[in-house]
Amino acid sequence: MSKTTVIAFANNKGGSGKTTTCSNVGCAMALMGKKVLLIDGDMQLNLTISYFDEEKALGYAQDGKTLYTALKEEKDLSDFIVETGIDGLDIVPSSSLMSSIEFDLFSKWQRELVLTKCLERVRAKGYYDYILIDAPPTLGGWVMNIMCASEYLVIPVEASPWGLFGLANMFDFCEQVKRVSPKLEILGIAITKADERKKYFKQTLETLQNIDGATLFNTYVRVDSAVEWAQDSSMPVVAFKKTSRSAVEYTNLAKEIMENVNRKERN
Ligand SMILES: Nc1ncnc2c1ncn2[C@@H]1O[C@H](COP(=O)(O)OP(=O)(O)OP(=O)(O)O)[C@@H](O)[C@H]1O
Ligand SMILES: [Mg+2]
Repeated sequence: MSKTTVIAFANNKGGSGKTTTCSNVGCAMALMGKKVLLIDGDMQLNLTISYFDEEKALGYAQDGKTLYTALKEEKDLSDFIVETGIDGLDIVPSSSLMSSIEFDLFSKWQRELVLTKCLERVRAKGYYDYILIDAPPTLGGWVMNIMCASEYLVIPVEASPWGLFGLANMFDFCEQVKRVSPKLEILGIAITKADERKKYFKQTLETLQNIDGATLFNTYVRVDSAVEWAQDSSMPVVAFKKTSRSAVEYTNLAKEIMENVNRKERN
């Protein structure tokens, strides 16, 4: 039985590339032979519709086969896993009902640990090498749950002036999470939607290379229209167009993430 490593993809800044990074890194890991479970933690369902058309995604919601039902009824997440159609890659779909999750968590016993408990049996089985959780662009009780259930945090950051704004809040929030769950570590910051032609990009790169509290992944992902074409076809770009620039970059990022995890686990 192997160890399952749980990684959260979070940043309170909206549109920073969390879902696209989570989806593609997870798919790239699966294409490299790993067993991966994706968990869609956002009411926008973007991770779910990265793999299924709207009709299918709404069907899962109607059947209650979603993260929301598992959390609300505090059930074992194993019963909410569906196949993505890509070998080795499964997902727990989301639903728009996640919009009320903060309210639902409020009355629960040990409310920061509801997801941790729902994940207990999936982790104990050790079937998955990695569980990747896509967080919504908030910092509240639900994202606290996501981070408490994770060993590592990847922070996708858009290389724009507003992309860096609020990062300090993210670090402060991590410190608060560590009081409840000391195992959480920031694995790294991943730059997304980079445009090397812009002068501002170099400035962002330098800022993030010298930032206190987190390391920057060497791999950054550039803006690539193939990402959106892939999303339009309900597929991650690493499966949709393997030779595209972003597919290669997401695959390199997945390799770097796995190397960093292995290095940390050895120490
Ligand atoms: N490498 C890329 N190249 C081109 N477009 C990209 C790339 N990465 C992300 N995008 C686009 O940027 C937008 C935001 O990305 P994404 O949804 O992954 O961010 P997010 O942080 O999950 O957003 P939210 O905070 O709303 O959950 C999407 O329209 C997506 O298609
Ligand atoms: Mg998202």
